[in-house]
Amino acid sequence: MASTPANVTVVAHPLVQHKLTLMRKRETTVVEFRRLAREIALLLAYEVTRDLPVTSTPIDTPLAEMSAPVLAGKKLCLVSILRAGNGLLDGMLDLVPSARVGHIGIYRDPDTLVAVEYYYKVPEDLQERQVIVVDPMLATGNSAVAAVSKLKEDGAQQIKFTCLLAAPEGIAQMQAAHPDVQIFTAAIDQRLNDHGYIVPGLGDAGDRLYGTR
Ligand code: URA
Repeated sequence: MASTPANVTVVAHPLVQHKLTLMRKRETTVVEFRRLAREIALLLAYEVTRDLPVTSTPIDTPLAEMSAPVLAGKKLCLVSILRAGNGLLDGMLDLVPSARVGHIGIYRDPDTLVAVEYYYKVPEDLQERQVIVVDPMLATGNSAVAAVSKLKEDGAQQIKFTCLLAAPEGIAQMQAAHPDVQIFTAAIDQRLNDHGYIVPGLGDAGDRLYGTR
């Protein structure tokens, strides 16, 4: 089996893998798919936030004073690539409720697979925040690379990318364009098909989340 690329973390936790298998199954309902996306997102958020900086603060427990760790610096910023990114957003916010949230609307032109931006709204002070971009499927990588480029133009300096599934093509594309961006995924699948879908994959994440097909 090929080794995992250097800037990719595959979250191999058994709960993540089990839930991902349920999401892949054709017969999984919209209700279940949405719930599973939220649950996996929380577990992925646990990994992607593993190296958040901490500092110490004095507190009183019922028994004594102590110096205890708390998160340092500005609140992190989650950025959802619409629309499927929103399927991961709530689970991540379950774990990090104080995170700021940005949205980038990007769709893939179905013929060219090129990323087309139609919406952009993020917090103003991105340069001071850890930014975590979320999109369930890193397929061609076009949307993810476009989103990261836009965020960097806007000042973001620390960016991570979180998805459920990544294709080797998408990883290569992100590594070529943004080698500084660490990718967190639940699995790396085999390949893309001729329509830019991940195989074996789980189908169209947006349609499965929102029941649009
Ligand atoms: N987007 C999806 O929703 N699914 C894929 O397999 C690829 C891109």
